[in-house]
Amino acid sequence: MYKTLVPRDASRLVGGGQIVTVASVSKEGVPDCMTAAWNTAYDSDQVLVVLDLGHTTTRNILDTGKFVVGIPDESLVKEILKVGSEHGRVTGDKFKWAGIAPEKSAKLGIDVIPGQMAYIECELGDKDVFEKTGVAIGKAVNITVKEELWDDESSSFGKGYQHNLHYVSGEVFCTGGTLIKV
Ligand SMILES: Cc1cc2nc3c(=O)[nH]c(=O)nc-3n(C[C@H](O)[C@H](O)[C@H](O)COP(=O)(O)O)c2cc1C
Repeated sequence: MYKTLVPRDASRLVGGGQIVTVASVSKEGVPDCMTAAWNTAYDSDQVLVVLDLGHTTTRNILDTGKFVVGIPDESLVKEILKVGSEHGRVTGDKFKWAGIAPEKSAKLGIDVIPGQMAYIECELGDKDVFEKTGVAIGKAVNITVKEELWDDESSSFGKGYQHNLHYVSGEVFCTGGTLIKV
């Protein structure tokens, strides 16, 4: 027996990838960060994040062409929900508003939530596509990953995959097959 779902439940099934954070900065220099469940790989050195056109992050990326995709683990679920709950244009500096002491990303110097498993610093790939659809192509210009989570032999995220978070719904995430309710 199968149960029929409504079309909008499609995204609940495929997920895309692990949940990520997207850090950016406005053209005036105000740092921002948001949470994005809709993301995936696009090429070996490119990632996709799907952003609402009304988000402050979208404005920032259109203005600067730069952002950082962070890969958080279970220890950061509260921070993820917080930065994903209000617009930067309302909060001002999102990190200050959320009570998070940021760190600078290694190459682009964009404020990020510290302690994440990995960071992919990106330049925007195709501005027109992003402006029309909200699909941001991030071309990786620098990647840093916690050493203990990376397997050099297989050149893979290895242990990192045991800790990454998938979004389920509401305040529920999944890691290693276990549901986490915040
Ligand atoms: C768990 C979670 C997942 C989210 N996934 C997305 C997403 O994939 N795309 C998106 O545009 N917004 C997503 N959001 C909403 C944004 O993170 C939220 O609206 C945020 O406040 C936008 O901030 P900004 O306006 O400062 O950019 C998500 C929020 C949460 C809590």
